Amino acid sequence: MTTTELYARALSLIPGGVNSPVRAMKAVGLETPIFAARGEGAYLEDVAGRRYLDWVLSWGPLIFGHADPETVDAVVEAARRGTTFGTATEAEVELAAEIVDAVPSVEMVRLVSSGTEAAMTALRLARAATGREPFVRFRGGYHGHADPFLSEAGSGVRTLGIEAGGEGRVVDYNDLEAVERAIEGAACVFVEPVAGNMGVVPPADGFLEGLRRLCDESGALLVFDEVITGFRVARGGAQERYGVLPDLTVLGKIVGGGLPLAAFGGSAELMERLAPAGDVYQAGTLSGNPLATAAGLSVLRRLTPEVYDELEAKGRRLDALGQFGRFERVGAMATLFVDDYPALFRHLLERGIYLAPSQNEAMFLSTVHGDEEIDRTIEAVADFFS
Ligand SMILES: Cc1ncc(COP(=O)(O)O)c(C=O)c1O
Repeated sequence: MTTTELYARALSLIPGGVNSPVRAMKAVGLETPIFAARGEGAYLEDVAGRRYLDWVLSWGPLIFGHADPETVDAVVEAARRGTTFGTATEAEVELAAEIVDAVPSVEMVRLVSSGTEAAMTALRLARAATGREPFVRFRGGYHGHADPFLSEAGSGVRTLGIEAGGEGRVVDYNDLEAVERAIEGAACVFVEPVAGNMGVVPPADGFLEGLRRLCDESGALLVFDEVITGFRVARGGAQERYGVLPDLTVLGKIVGGGLPLAAFGGSAELMERLAPAGDVYQAGTLSGNPLATAAGLSVLRRLTPEVYDELEAKGRRLDALGQFGRFERVGAMATLFVDDYPALFRHLLERGIYLAPSQNEAMFLSTVHGDEEIDRTIEAVADFFS
């Protein structure tokens, strides 16, 4: 089947032909999404045999690149022992230990299957712990697709211009005064500590510290959604990098090593409000799935300080993109903001370089992006502007 035929078939069977709206290419003026056939390292190959240098890397999880041999081996080995048990396993305890060791504010963690699920439950827990319903969040932030988070959200909601209902007092990112006006009586402030779903926007100096202070003064919990930043901007995420500790942390993407796994955690006191220890209900048939915990463990155990030094060095090389537009980067996440992003996207795709099909998303650096890949990308962008 050609890509066109495949897409026509997909359109007749799957709404919009894709299982997540961000995969659609309409926002960058293209008809068909990429139908992936395989990936290796920094490269993705589609069903037509076209090869792309991949800066999306499944939207962030693949810090060691596609089909990383150690991850694949770990998953295959786990699969031979059974793909799901619906009981407790040793690997989930080990993964919880890795997370607690890495993430400064997390003493206890629960594993779930998607960032959406983790964020949704973190909000439920914050509401139960404070006995308050309202919460504060930020315009252009994204915390998955649970109802309370959708209005004025980032990522695909923003790319598609969808007006969704939602809850929460929505204020501008980096605007502490707005938070101060909105926080009274709130259960929590829900924030991506480095915004990554309206393109990368770093926190202004003092912003995260200010959120911590305002939460402490008002009795609201501070929730960091580190689905993107966790294990990416530092092993311990943005809270390690900026030295500000939240009450609850939401994790996804890298923590699952490229399999469907996410998590949320916090102090033992807060987390023990969850059933069966406490009265806040949360559950999942596939939570702590053995293939996903094997992948997550394989990845997390290799995230040494050297990996972050390497990513930072690669990031500095990529900073040369700053000559072409506003380039925002925090560690291994970055966005180049340009006026005609769709044209740049198409220019690069024609040259076999795949950026996210929206400027609301980040470029994800990984250990498999070498100097050659970085330089090729910079040259191709330079070519676009020449
Ligand atoms: C910051 C953030 N939170 C939550 C989510 C939702 O995660 P998932 O897509 O696994 O449901 C995302 C997804 O991109 C995200 O970037």
